[in-house]
Amino acid sequence: MDLSTREKNFAKYYSYITANPEYLKLKGIPRHGSTDTYEHSIRVGYAAYRLAKRMGVDPESAARVGLLHDFCLINYQDKTKEDCKSRPWYCLHHPEEAAANGELHFGLSKEEQDAIRSHMFPLAVHVPKSRLALVLTLADKKVASIEGAAGAKYFAGKVGRQLKKGLT
Ligand SMILES: [Fe+2]
Ligand SMILES: [Fe+2]
Repeated sequence: MDLSTREKNFAKYYSYITANPEYLKLKGIPRHGSTDTYEHSIRVGYAAYRLAKRMGVDPESAARVGLLHDFCLINYQDKTKEDCKSRPWYCLHHPEEAAANGELHFGLSKEEQDAIRSHMFPLAVHVPKSRLALVLTLADKKVASIEGAAGAKYFAGKVGRQLKKGLT
């Protein structure tokens, strides 16, 4: 699943985040069966930026939390890694790590950190308490559903091709 031209331009505009060597490591972490965490975060950042403008929320802040909401460098899908085995509750842990990493590398306000911590609502314990947090969780869910559908389509195509091979 490729980034759109608008999403690529958005990523260029926020290169102080997207070209950061630590942030670039997100390219190695798969997401939703059709993409990686780097591109997922750019999509969420752009979606949050646009939604924020419509909801009267600071778009710069929305872009930042969108880009940084999954800034967690542990691949929880890699079951061979000790990190993964010891921390199975991905939806509880990764927002905490993303908020801490975002603050460490780029500096975030308290409201931005809280928004990142609550982005997995209602799957995690933190409840969105600001309009910024609401924008982030909605943007993440919208993007995740599109990426998940693309992943399911890819998987179905792969299974279909294998079945066809087996049948001929
Ligand atoms: Fe997340
Ligand atoms: Fe996400």
